[in-house]
Amino acid sequence: MKNFTQKADLQQHLGNLKAAGAVITFVPTMGALHQGHLSLIEQAKQLGDVVVCSIFVNPTQFNDPKDLEIYPRPIQADMQKLDAAGCDILFNPEVNEMYAGNEKWHLNLGPIEGVLEGTFRPGHYQGVTQVVYKLFNIVKPDIALFGQKDYQQFLVISKMVELLNMPVKLVMCPIVRETDGLAMSSRNIHLTPGDRKHALILSKTLNKVKQNFDPEKIAELKSQAEQDIAAEPDTVLAYFEIADGETLLPASKNTGNVVALVAATVGKTRLIDNVVIK
Ligand code: PAJ
Repeated sequence: MKNFTQKADLQQHLGNLKAAGAVITFVPTMGALHQGHLSLIEQAKQLGDVVVCSIFVNPTQFNDPKDLEIYPRPIQADMQKLDAAGCDILFNPEVNEMYAGNEKWHLNLGPIEGVLEGTFRPGHYQGVTQVVYKLFNIVKPDIALFGQKDYQQFLVISKMVELLNMPVKLVMCPIVRETDGLAMSSRNIHLTPGDRKHALILSKTLNKVKQNFDPEKIAELKSQAEQDIAAEPDTVLAYFEIADGETLLPASKNTGNVVALVAATVGKTRLIDNVVIK
């Protein structure tokens, strides 16, 4: 695997590969890689010729400075994992390589960035779109892969690509879970053994809603789910929504694509999860 920290060097290398006709696939990450991230790399290998992965803990998308400070950064282990997964190129820039100064620009992507995570993490999607826009501009991938784990993030990035006519195809990959159902996340290492057990309430509740889904009973299902999560010790619910899979506004009985999404803090760790219902 080739490792770049400077965008100019990466662009030069990619330019040569593109001139030779290579299809470039791209997996942006913040590192602390787990099987969820590696599943994106594996899928990327199927879809193109050269897989680029970025590891960049993007400060502008952290609304909580403490969360940024404690975000895990095991770069050596990450490089080994990427190498073993068959990643071709790693881009691992410093903050000053990505941001010239105290940048304050924002793309207006409409209502999708204001709901759910947008309400609870002000500015989060502003930071995500800033960095993904910059990364797309540097890598200029043919295909970029993102996880369903961050369902709203995928919608936000899709909107950006659509509005700006960015020439990249986006692919959403399924959520990779631990055997007991917990969605893999770089933040799971912060869970104490007790938290780890309580965290299962999220996937359990999502599955229950999926199994019992009845378009006539959305309000009851949502209310029961909220109660189930609120009853779990050390768990504080931010939201549980049964939503339209395109707008993330509350689903009605006639909604075609339905997704259930949850965010909660377990112990001190904020977790999100979701399940596509139909
Ligand atoms: P990060 O949280 O590192 O996630 C990188 C990618 O891995 C995202 O597309 C995310 O949805 C996916 N992912 C995380 N956990 C997953 C799981 N359990 N199963 C499948 N895919 C999973 O998302 C970000 O970084 C950042 O916001 C980023 C897009 C890199 C911009 O900074």
